[in-house]
Amino acid sequence: MRVRVVAVASAKGSPGCTFVAVNLARRLADAGLETLLVDADAEARGAASMFGAGAAAASGLLTRAARLSGLDPEAIERSSGPVGPRLRLLELEPSGAAGVEGRELVSAALDGRSAIVLDLGHLHGPLQHQLAAAADWLLWVVSPDRQGLERADAVLAGRPLGGASPGLVLNRISGSTLRGAEAVLVERHRMPVMARLLERRAVATGPRQAHRARAFRSGFSDLARTVHPDIPRAARTWP
Ligand SMILES: Nc1ncnc2c1ncn2[C@@H]1O[C@H](COP(=O)(O)OP(=O)(O)OP(=O)(O)O)[C@@H](O)[C@H]1O
Ligand SMILES: [Mg+2]
Repeated sequence: MRVRVVAVASAKGSPGCTFVAVNLARRLADAGLETLLVDADAEARGAASMFGAGAAAASGLLTRAARLSGLDPEAIERSSGPVGPRLRLLELEPSGAAGVEGRELVSAALDGRSAIVLDLGHLHGPLQHQLAAAADWLLWVVSPDRQGLERADAVLAGRPLGGASPGLVLNRISGSTLRGAEAVLVERHRMPVMARLLERRAVATGPRQAHRARAFRSGFSDLARTVHPDIPRAARTWP
């Protein structure tokens, strides 16, 4: 199995960065890849809550372990917790990640894994820059309403994170989606649209299962296949 590291970032405004990171990680794990989801949101961790209360307790805080024993594969294993088959969650302490170097973290985390998904959130400090630099893909999650597009446009114009191949994920597509604005964003920032995901208030199975819900199924499936070359094509691989 080949390895892919996918960073997920956003401009401000809760466009669904964590939602996309969590469900992409679930999709990759469901497809048979050993996957690590890293919650590196500098402001507030949100990934564990999408897996339910038990996950928050199970997952550890890397910074605590890293200070004790260095950034090696065992520290990653010890500091992360299982949140599903083939999927572990590692939370980084928002304020205490000073001792962690992003590229070292990614190379230690790659041990025995095929996919790493990094939730970078919208505040991008040194750690988020290092993580993005270690990624193969950088997915910008954008809510395609006026405010979301304006924010994304402003952030992307500043070229805030570099390194990986960038792409857009349009999330929360609804009646208020601005027609035509997507093309402007694509052209102005020279980024492909990697997925279009609908706004769905009542995802019956909850956010952590959203990638299996009909409304999101093909979106996350296509996204997973785009970012990872070893996702099987056949529809019957769905659990
Ligand atoms: N396509 C969607 N349809 C319905 N609800 C969604 C969708 N995408 C995200 N949500 C919900 O919107 C809320 C905010 O999403 P999320 O936490 O992923 O945003 P975020 O960009 O990570 O925000 P923050 O900047 O606060 O970290 C969550 O409750 C999430 O489940
Ligand atoms: Mg978030």
